Amino acid sequence: MRPAPPDLTGRVVIIGDGIAGLVAALALAPQPVVLVTQAGPGQGGSTALAQGGIAAAIEADDSPELHLADTLAAGAGLCDANIAETILRQAGEAIDFLERHGTRFDRDASGAPVLGLEAAHGRRRILHAAGDGSGGEIVRALVAALRRCASVAVLEGRVARRLLTHDGAIAGVLLQREGAGMVLPARQVVMATGGIGGLYDATTNPVGNWGQGIMLAARAGAALADMEFVQFHPTALAVGQGRLPLISEAVRGEGAILINDRGERFLAGHPGGELAPRDIVARAIHAEMTSGRRVFLKADNIDFPTRFPAITALCRSAGIDPARAPIPVRPAQHYHMGGIHTDAFGRSTLPGLWAIGECAATGLHGANRLASNSLLEAAVMGLNAARDIAASPGSYPVMPAMPDLPPEADPGQVRAITSRHLGILRDGASLHAAIAGLLPLALGGGEASDPAITALSIAVFAALRQESRGAHARTDFPAQAAHSVSRRMTLDQIIQSARLILSDDLARSA
Ligand code: SIN
Repeated sequence: MRPAPPDLTGRVVIIGDGIAGLVAALALAPQPVVLVTQAGPGQGGSTALAQGGIAAAIEADDSPELHLADTLAAGAGLCDANIAETILRQAGEAIDFLERHGTRFDRDASGAPVLGLEAAHGRRRILHAAGDGSGGEIVRALVAALRRCASVAVLEGRVARRLLTHDGAIAGVLLQREGAGMVLPARQVVMATGGIGGLYDATTNPVGNWGQGIMLAARAGAALADMEFVQFHPTALAVGQGRLPLISEAVRGEGAILINDRGERFLAGHPGGELAPRDIVARAIHAEMTSGRRVFLKADNIDFPTRFPAITALCRSAGIDPARAPIPVRPAQHYHMGGIHTDAFGRSTLPGLWAIGECAATGLHGANRLASNSLLEAAVMGLNAARDIAASPGSYPVMPAMPDLPPEADPGQVRAITSRHLGILRDGASLHAAIAGLLPLALGGGEASDPAITALSIAVFAALRQESRGAHARTDFPAQAAHSVSRRMTLDQIIQSARLILSDDLARSA
């Protein structure tokens, strides 16, 4: 174990290199920042995979109020309306920031943005780039800007293993490179570590992301919120397991329809049809598949290679020509609405720790995220956290005590439990089985311990929510409760609840 080089000590530390972390690092300039990344800026996260784009009410016939109404409807009563309004009103500012840093959104011959439509949006408001290469273009531009930015030191090939605290506030980060540890003293740490796809055996996200930021923040004492709400994208390409290529909702926005292997358009009679909120579409596809049918996206009415060049290439590499043949699809884990609880500036409940992007729970998404609100939230919250940090300079950090490195994290055992019990449909027995499997792993201190902390948190929040709402669907509580609130818990409370749930089970079965 060794201390960090002195010129890095006392900088703002940003952990994560997707849109949220990159925007925060650039917006803090010229304040010195260390960006910690395992794979290299923009390389390891899900931003570069984003196809649809970024939702922004920028057209004359649109407004933040209309965007807010769609966001609140998708969120199924659990959005924080004030936070949602604040974030959605900043859409123009975020787009402007991205464009000033080199992002080229698609525009028509007159220079007006070309806007896409996605599920549960009342109108076209999705800015996209390179057709369906939106995330890749945003990452390209932000990484190029980062390379020109002298105030950002990039620490590549490092993994954050623990947050260190002193007197109830952030004091530093324990980093690991291969087998060696390093302590980076810091008073201001921004968590921007992305999602939880690696906890599931079918996901549209990088499988290396299993909720590291959530685990680190929870272990350090920060409160988590809304952890039960895991979004499944209805249409991943149905080829194999692990990370599955996404077939963007924008494809349905352009008129593609869903059929089963009998040729039946099974969502035809449903309000919203193929563009109903994605939890509804995902459950409808799940039901078809559970009854033994295969599901396809029929898109031969679209000029596919022109509008969706990246998806065309993904399909062709799986031997499918989307312009001619129906595309086989299935639901896959896609986004996590829950995470580290924050306010509108990204402040967590732990002094000195901010959280932005998918690892955070601001209250924008409620029980179900509206499509393409996530890149928007990540960019806006990157700006807001940077502004807040710049206005509250941290004192020079003391050197925290050097802890031992925990064992390498391996989510394999946890993934089996999560995929089986914390999927699209849940029930009490299955959630209790998940908790019974995950609690000993979380407390065991072995290779499964860190991922089990994230998964256990999802299971406990899900067991406590005895209703179906948004992305959280319980077969034993199929209706929405009359009153429902967003829940927040620290790790101590989560572990205590897990024990109570299990002991209640034992008492009932005795
Ligand atoms: C998609 O392109 O379907 C995904 C967009 C999103 O998840 O926001």
